[in-house]
Amino acid sequence: MILHENHRLSRNSTIKDETGKSLEAMTVFQMSIKHLLDQLMETLNTQMVDPMFIKDVDFVLTVPAIWGDASKMFMREAAISAGIPTDQLTIALEPEAASIYCQYLHFEKEDTDRTDEFLKEVSTKMKYMVVDLGGGTVDITVHQKSSDGTLQEILPATGGPLGGTTIDKEFTSLIEEIAGKGIFEELKKESMEDYLDIFRQFETKKRNEATSKVRVTIPVTLDKLVKKKTKGGISKLLENMAIKSNVSYESSSKKLVMSPDFFNDLFKKTTEGIMQHIDKIFKTDKLDDVNTIIMVGGFSECKIIQKALQSKYKGSKRLIIPDEAGLAVVKGAVYFGHLPDVISRRVSRYTYGIQSWPEFCPGKDPEEKKIKVNNSFRCKDVMFPVIKRGEQIKVGHRKSQVFQALKPNQTELECAIFVSDKEDPRFVDEEGCRQLGILKVPIPAGTSCAEIEETIIFGETEIQFTANQLGSGRIMSTSFDMLDPKNLPDP
Ligand SMILES: Nc1ncnc2c1ncn2[C@@H]1O[C@H](COP(=O)(O)OP(=O)(O)OP(=O)(O)O)[C@@H](O)[C@H]1O
Ligand SMILES: [Mg+2]
Repeated sequence: MILHENHRLSRNSTIKDETGKSLEAMTVFQMSIKHLLDQLMETLNTQMVDPMFIKDVDFVLTVPAIWGDASKMFMREAAISAGIPTDQLTIALEPEAASIYCQYLHFEKEDTDRTDEFLKEVSTKMKYMVVDLGGGTVDITVHQKSSDGTLQEILPATGGPLGGTTIDKEFTSLIEEIAGKGIFEELKKESMEDYLDIFRQFETKKRNEATSKVRVTIPVTLDKLVKKKTKGGISKLLENMAIKSNVSYESSSKKLVMSPDFFNDLFKKTTEGIMQHIDKIFKTDKLDDVNTIIMVGGFSECKIIQKALQSKYKGSKRLIIPDEAGLAVVKGAVYFGHLPDVISRRVSRYTYGIQSWPEFCPGKDPEEKKIKVNNSFRCKDVMFPVIKRGEQIKVGHRKSQVFQALKPNQTELECAIFVSDKEDPRFVDEEGCRQLGILKVPIPAGTSCAEIEETIIFGETEIQFTANQLGSGRIMSTSFDMLDPKNLPDP
């Protein structure tokens, strides 16, 4: 499942499968996690002498660092409904897990010298960029080791929809260019097996840079569908196309044949997009002192992308690709499960604020925000900032605010929390601001005009909340629902 930066899942969100049928996203996530959980427990119980139960295991689920708080909450709810107890579950950010893995490096054999050098430097506060190249996204962060051995995030994660599947899309476009736009929709209806098969084949071709012609078998169903429209089939269609000098069709073996240069060029746009993104980060974030790039994620194992980055950064940056780059995240997540305090500082990706209605300030506040409450004028919808975008936060950083119940018989205190991509938003209804959720604190019966201190805890992988009653110090229960469909529709 690919979710991008501003993707917002709510409990009502649905996901479409390859055939266009929808299912609730929560069900899809829950069943996927349940399947992994069942497989794990089965494997453990066939390999261990003593029986293992869910209660014996701590679970770590990884999410891309560009996911927002609501998506992480969604993942946690899905895991809980799959049967993982919430107090045995940690959510880890993928580039952090990869970075942790790189602290316990296992480089490819020929890189042994560089490994020693890297480990020596990393212990002396070196900053390094982690580039996680996955299936759907590239996720980039910059980390630094501190003197106490923990890792600090120097730059919050940014990323975009570039990864291994972007190459599959290039291949899809090629077939559509030859056989017509809707060809894969037709193929899926005729034979899903053949549709999956052509991409399974392409997956194996993607692994290496082509030095000779690349051949992909065209499934019988696809061949038939094309022949239904054009008698001579793919060969005939190619005759009139500009790409015919690079792409041909072998009727005897039913194979599409691509010249090595043409095949390698399918990676060009993605590779360039990734490098542009890296360059932009180096330029805009003044990272002159970052000389090392660590590449992780499955797509980092792709020889073409490795070569492109190596030649681009030769002489200026050092490129490190750990052994089993594709497993760096999952193996790092296991370390994270054992060492949850290994990340000491993170950088806030958003400005977090509380919706407030301060006294109206004539001349300063816009007239349209003026509202009369009781006997005074207030300025509505002000975003009172709690944490600013780009602020470096220590793990466990707490921000508190005191709220007072206005009526004696009030049963609940509500506080709307907003996030913004801007550093200094003024109002909660500005562009880039969205409601994250409403923090609700029930007030026990018989408490009159309670003063409640609400605390937001930042810096962990997931945002947390606590509340206590001033005076008595009594801890109140809180609920914060980020998945309410009313919060925001999916973009
Ligand atoms: N040796 C390889 N050569 C080329 N591509 C590869 C290789 N190994 C894996 N990939 C590609 O890497 C992608 C999978 O990478 P990975 O497992 O890191 O993704 P993911 O973490 O599931 O996705 P994301 O991080 O985007 O959510 C697939 O698109 C796959 O085709
Ligand atoms: Mg990934």
